[in-house]
Amino acid sequence: MRFGSRQTIRGGIGTVVLCLLAVGFASGQAAQQRPQLAGEVFKNVPALKDIPVDEFMDTMGMFSAATNMNCTDCHTEDSGSNWANYAKETPLKQTARRMVLMVNNLNRNNFRAAKLVTCYTCHRGDQKPKAVASLTIQYGVPMEDPNEIEIFPDPLAPPAAQILDKYIETIGGAQRLAALTSFAAKGTYEGFDTEQLKVPVEIYAKAPAQRTTIVHTPFGDSVRTFDGRAGWISAPDKPMPLMTLTKANLEGARIDALISFPAQVKQAFTQWKVGSTVIDDRDVRVVQGTNAGQPTPVNLYFDESGILIRLVRFSETAVGTIPTQIDFSDYRDVAGVKMPFKFIVTWTNGQATTELSEIQPNAAIDAARFARPAPAAIPRLQ
Ligand code: HEC
Ligand code: HEC
Repeated sequence: MRFGSRQTIRGGIGTVVLCLLAVGFASGQAAQQRPQLAGEVFKNVPALKDIPVDEFMDTMGMFSAATNMNCTDCHTEDSGSNWANYAKETPLKQTARRMVLMVNNLNRNNFRAAKLVTCYTCHRGDQKPKAVASLTIQYGVPMEDPNEIEIFPDPLAPPAAQILDKYIETIGGAQRLAALTSFAAKGTYEGFDTEQLKVPVEIYAKAPAQRTTIVHTPFGDSVRTFDGRAGWISAPDKPMPLMTLTKANLEGARIDALISFPAQVKQAFTQWKVGSTVIDDRDVRVVQGTNAGQPTPVNLYFDESGILIRLVRFSETAVGTIPTQIDFSDYRDVAGVKMPFKFIVTWTNGQATTELSEIQPNAAIDAARFARPAPAAIPRLQ
């Protein structure tokens, strides 16, 4: 199972703890006023040095998703225990670097530099792309991926506005939603970054679009903040103690904050498309929102009752687009508004489950909660 293997991608955080001490943090010194580029943080990145660090890590996620290789397969076994070891050369890394050049040339020479050919185009989850036609696929039952970025409009579906209105109605109605302007939540979180250990999590959110999540991992707090304009991740398991979010990751943080207060959802996008798909044997409507000037859309999935069960957003990496999927469930009543108490986030680098036990509506939240977080504390050796 793919995600199972992803969980071992970095050999676990316990070992990453060591590397935080080992990597000399040039990054920690900068005031993080602007996003740092890969070339400023990493040692051996001739092919991808000019992209921001968050996009660089997403590009590694794309490499893994496209080739179905774990991080340490392409790097070295000891990379899991020390970020510095990722700089070591391996034959597979050299091939991958050559592939980056090949992909760039293919797109430049054939597709006016639009990123139409990506690592995924050929590899599709195989370390070695298949060159021979498959009769099994040709004559087999086609497998539909509900997360496709390209959705086919369903002529029988109601217009997007109707689906979104029904959603607002189902979760409590515009009036109650408008009265909910902030919340403070508590619960548990588990993911590959906690080695699947359930740890406490706190979420603070304020309308229209501020949101902070604090995961208390055994190795230190992992903080993800969107202040309404800018976003950051401060975490003990990242290659740098404070990572500034850029481009699609920043947009993704904005969407996560916005969707916390769904009254705004209709205004969040200027163009909508509606399709139909199936998730877990259930018929689902996909409503896709797009904004001019934003390279990727957002897909919202509503079940028959009208409630939001999934959100898929996309990030562009140096070598193609990758999805992030958020599944919402366990809707419960909070001040007359149905809110999801469980959500599972799945992306190319891992999967994390949050289960809330309590949401306090209209909590007074200190503005400092949404300020840029302090760089993650460097954990002590154990
Ligand atoms: C298909 C091979 C491949 C896979 C899989 C892969 N990487 Fe990489 N990685 C590379 C290449 C190639 C570079 C060098 C990029 C360049 O030249 O700019 C690199 C560089 C890096 C660096 C920079 C190290 C330094 O200081 O120079 C880090 C950190 C890194 N990878 C982390 C990861 C993580 C984490 C994963 C798993 C999510 C991963 N990689 C998966 C090929 C891979
Ligand atoms: C146009 C098709 C195509 C694209 C696009 C492509 N590859 Fe490849 N890749 C290949 C082929 C063909 C091979 C050789 C497979 C073999 O040896 O059987 C290969 C081999 C590799 C290998 C070595 C596998 C091994 O076990 O020897 C790696 C790693 C790799 N590609 C990574 C990437 C990455 C990363 C990207 C995106 C930057 C990418 N590829 C894009 C076609 C492609």
